[in-house]
Amino acid sequence: MALQDIYQPAQDEASRHAFVGTLKAYVNGRLEERLDTLYEETLSPAFAAQHGRKPASREEASGLLTGDPLFQMWASLVYSSQDLMWEAAGETIDRIRPEVDRTVNQLVQGNARLGSLTLDPKLVIPQPIADVEIHRQPGGFFHQDGVEDVTAAMLNLGAGGVYGAAKRQVAQARPGDPVAGRALVDLARKLAPTLEPRRILELGCGIGSHTVALAQAWPEAEVHGLDLSAPLVRFAHAWAEDNEVGIHYHQMDASATNFPEGHFDLIVSVIFCHETSHDILRRSMAQAYRMLAPGGLLLNIDVPYQPSRTSLVKQVTNEWQVANNGEPFWMGFADTEMKRVLMEAGFAEDEVIDQYQPNGRSSQYVFGGIKRA
Ligand SMILES: C[S@@+](CC[C@H](N)C(=O)[O-])C[C@H]1O[C@@H](n2cnc3c(N)ncnc32)[C@H](O)[C@@H]1O
Repeated sequence: MALQDIYQPAQDEASRHAFVGTLKAYVNGRLEERLDTLYEETLSPAFAAQHGRKPASREEASGLLTGDPLFQMWASLVYSSQDLMWEAAGETIDRIRPEVDRTVNQLVQGNARLGSLTLDPKLVIPQPIADVEIHRQPGGFFHQDGVEDVTAAMLNLGAGGVYGAAKRQVAQARPGDPVAGRALVDLARKLAPTLEPRRILELGCGIGSHTVALAQAWPEAEVHGLDLSAPLVRFAHAWAEDNEVGIHYHQMDASATNFPEGHFDLIVSVIFCHETSHDILRRSMAQAYRMLAPGGLLLNIDVPYQPSRTSLVKQVTNEWQVANNGEPFWMGFADTEMKRVLMEAGFAEDEVIDQYQPNGRSSQYVFGGIKRA
């Protein structure tokens, strides 16, 4: 069976997945909207009556919201639905693991490989990332029981399906569907219409679903993906081979790469920047600038939560996610002025891209730069 078709929840598993997806959609959607209403219609007016002004900071809004039973119910449901998501995905993975391992091994060892896999057993995963379970994924992104174990990647894939459905408010999403990868392609063509990339790199590519969309959009280009996680890039390589595209995957730190200067015409990332520490983010952007060819495009898409563009209620819920739900770098990223980071990396002010773009029912933060030719 093709790797893309292996992750098929059995009937009872599928109904649990659908329940968790629906619960998440409700909690992240309508329930969160009720927090806005509570704040605007009750908490903020009560504060104003007492102080003669509206709450002015995240701290003041947090003081009002976090003690309220509705907020506490929202928080409990966010936390429990996250647990349920990992349980539901884990149940399916436990059942299909032997077939996944067999198929991934065949694809990785195949004779007619289109791309490549370069692991670095000496790579030390930098702190604080090494010890964090991002999204509270059990075992985190890096855990591996032997070199062939891709459970971390399967959890990513399965949970991505449940989470994708919840985020887009649809009943089901195909795990590994490169929605953001296709968005990257569209954005790149819009921002740099004449760019025909010869070499492309994705930073923090994870299981590589989005990298596949890049390779499909520019079939003549040499496409590379890098990530710190060995199980994730191993799976990414098998996934690309299974999709019949040639992609070169590397276990590598985006903040300490070894590609030559000016090597890539297009460097991209998808929700990589908010999942890494401030220091690594700055060094990764500097590396990206170094690796970018003259006339090349650096294009990152990420969460749209800069405080100047985000309501106080959303800032408070985000702060809660940082403290409790496996998003330790989220607020640090939101509070970072990316334009400044990109200029420190080497871009001139007029080369920097820094904008919000519509993304379904919400928006996404798009930033990077076009290096002068
Ligand atoms: C939230 S995941 C996103 C993965 C993928 N871009 C996607 O959208 O599915 C963030 C990824 O960044 C990787 N990462 C974090 N810090 C990194 C670094 N310094 N160098 C390379 N990868 C890194 C993690 O291992 C993880 O796979």
